[in-house]
Amino acid sequence: MAQNKNFDITPTAAADYQNKAVPAMFEPLARATMARIDLPDGAHVIDIACGTGVAARIIAEHLPGAGRIVGTDISEAMVQVAKQSEPSGTRHEFTWFAADVVDLPCDPQSFDIAFVQQGLQFFPDKPAALAEIARVLKPGGLVYITCWAEISPFNGSIADALEAAGAADAAGKARAPFSFRDGDMIAALLDEAGFVVERRDTVELFRRFDHPRDQVMSLPAGKDITAMGEKRADIVFADIEHRLSPYLSDEGYAVPQKAHLFAARRL
Ligand SMILES: C[S@@+](CC[C@H](N)C(=O)[O-])C[C@H]1O[C@@H](n2cnc3c(N)ncnc32)[C@H](O)[C@@H]1O
Repeated sequence: MAQNKNFDITPTAAADYQNKAVPAMFEPLARATMARIDLPDGAHVIDIACGTGVAARIIAEHLPGAGRIVGTDISEAMVQVAKQSEPSGTRHEFTWFAADVVDLPCDPQSFDIAFVQQGLQFFPDKPAALAEIARVLKPGGLVYITCWAEISPFNGSIADALEAAGAADAAGKARAPFSFRDGDMIAALLDEAGFVVERRDTVELFRRFDHPRDQVMSLPAGKDITAMGEKRADIVFADIEHRLSPYLSDEGYAVPQKAHLFAARRL
């Protein structure tokens, strides 16, 4: 299996992602996506780059009938958390495994639906990833892709604070999830991979949280800031809080974030 060294995620990082980033951002995104689509009765669904499995769990709530849901991610640590978080008493059959999107251990034409929630931007070979997704989808099957459409003020504040502290490399990493935000390019890639784009929406939502430091620590940037030493880290965290202050109210922080949502059919 090809390895992507940027996704060598530790069990602690996977647990932080699940406990902090998922409730603040990735569960609301999965719910907003699911509210916009209908899933066919008893569908066979694959959640690719599933992380800790949040989209798969929300799919299970919305999928009518008894379906089959597969969750897969390149990170073994993320898959382990997903397995432990599998809903109990569900009528659907779940399977989880670690795999690179370009080399899925699945039979051709085995799924009706594929989901990629905030994964495409991280795939080093996007045409190969989409070709592999097309291979495992049945003819007429649908892929749903979400990908950030703008650098959110949350991640932008982290990156700007890192830059101000002279940590340009870490700032670049903080912006990485937003590195692929051109919707026309996503549409062109889908087209080249033989998909027909049926729907292109923008999903607008808010990252809601009480403690900026906790949120930052759930991202790879948290490790970079900690590595700067306590004194410099405190300065960077204070700068991030200052930059995020326009988004603070009595109900905590609510920072806007926009994603593309694509639905494309495999011919
Ligand atoms: C921002 S997370 C999104 C996770 C999940 N979809 C969610 O919404 O919470 C990006 C995920 O992409 C996974 N990933 C990155 N490169 C991958 C690849 N080549 N194949 C499969 N998964 C990959 C990472 O391990 C990570 O879990």
